[in-house]
Amino acid sequence: MTQIKLTRIAALLKDAEFEKSVTVKGWVRTRRDSKNGFSFIELNDGSCMKNLQVIVDGDIPAYAETIKSVTTGASVSIEGTVKESPGKGQRIEVHATTLQLIGKADPASFPLQKKGHSFEFLREIAHLRPRTNSFGAVARVRNCISRSIHNFFQSRGFLYVNTPIITTSDCEGAGEMFQVTTLDLARLAKVQTEIDWKQDFFGKPAALTVSGQLEAETYATSVGDCYTFGPTFRAENSNTTRHLAEFWMVEPEMPFYELTDNMDLAESFVKTIIGDVLDQCPEDMEFFNKRIDKTVLETLDNIRNNEFIRLPYTEAVELLQNSGHKFDYPVEWGHDLQSEHERFLTEEHFKQPVILFDYPRTIKPFYMRCNDDGKTVRAMDVLVPRIGEIIGGSQREERLDVLLQRIEECGMNPEDYWWYTELRKFGSVPHSGFGLGLERAVQLITGMANIRDVIPFPRTPGHAEF
Ligand code: 4AD
Ligand code: MG
Repeated sequence: MTQIKLTRIAALLKDAEFEKSVTVKGWVRTRRDSKNGFSFIELNDGSCMKNLQVIVDGDIPAYAETIKSVTTGASVSIEGTVKESPGKGQRIEVHATTLQLIGKADPASFPLQKKGHSFEFLREIAHLRPRTNSFGAVARVRNCISRSIHNFFQSRGFLYVNTPIITTSDCEGAGEMFQVTTLDLARLAKVQTEIDWKQDFFGKPAALTVSGQLEAETYATSVGDCYTFGPTFRAENSNTTRHLAEFWMVEPEMPFYELTDNMDLAESFVKTIIGDVLDQCPEDMEFFNKRIDKTVLETLDNIRNNEFIRLPYTEAVELLQNSGHKFDYPVEWGHDLQSEHERFLTEEHFKQPVILFDYPRTIKPFYMRCNDDGKTVRAMDVLVPRIGEIIGGSQREERLDVLLQRIEECGMNPEDYWWYTELRKFGSVPHSGFGLGLERAVQLITGMANIRDVIPFPRTPGHAEF
């Protein structure tokens, strides 16, 4: 079988030898026609930020009838020879020997005909925005982060477990779940006041998961260190630059870890991911630093090179109250910190990442381990500049009696969590874990301001077009 010998532009720009024959395929970014009867094509195939410059001589076959259709956005296949480029900004160029138009893009209607569209506009054409420099770079960095996440855990012997997407338990206990049902709700609304869940697909109410943690705990307490990494869903009505209704979360879970071990792992995890992206995507990172946020490389270096501050919630509250800073929301012990408080700590006060821990039990989920003070739990949040909370985690309550008490205290039904509590009956061990929101990590690393621009197809209240 003969294989098409297709070279990707990233590889070509990196180390193609002069005079080599190549075939490249991609999308035209621009075409310029010279008065002397030849054309320049800037070709991009998404493999890297840079375009390949192609010189098409007027005397090659098909030039006359094809070249006018080779417009911005059109797809082409080009065979040619690699030459040293006399122009600035590129090592090589390709001199075309054949040119084939694959798919046209009518200049009158192609939305990316001109550069410089706003991110708001591009969100409305999420099917085309990956053809822009910014979204191509985000896609590559996001991919690099995912690879780095797997490498980090795989190289430490963690098992990748796939936890369910449809579930009947509410891990965070916040009641912010999307229901999954095959019942005909429109009909039921007319004929029934009460719903008989036994008639539903699973015989009881089910929903999309908000977190794979509870199921990951069953594997951590059997096969050891593990992680789940997949989509999670929150039906919270938050219209902020840091919330999505569907986002990806990586959740490691480790038996025999106490909270400090958990913090150590989280810190080294964040630093490793940043280091990997800086090593593996230098060109894209240069672009972000130049075009998106001029401080992003500096911020990332700062995170990588400093130890994270570790501060109990109670001390953070005192610090905020005594800061003299005027906040929109008051700071009060027993209340969740607002993003403005978190950002003050990490951006202004400490100017580096902060791990807050030992939060009031009343504001945290049922599964977190209770401290002896009767007031706080072994929770931790990792806060980073510009984002605020990037990781949330805890040591888990491993004592059956305390866990049952907490489930009741949180107004939940212990019967619904029978399998989870059984982990505490049979060989219970101290264990811990955390969750990192992938999109928040992509935001931190790229400097992109809005979380809707770091996931291919964002889902937010009122928005699920694509
Ligand atoms: O703090 P959260 O809610 O923690 C959990 O779900 C735990 N079960 C994790 C664990 O211990 N295994 O969420 C964890 C992280 C947050 O720190 C944030 O980065 C991200 O998930 N996150 C969101 N990202 C985007 N949009 C949302 N609506 C998010 N909610 C949480
Ligand atoms: Mg949280």
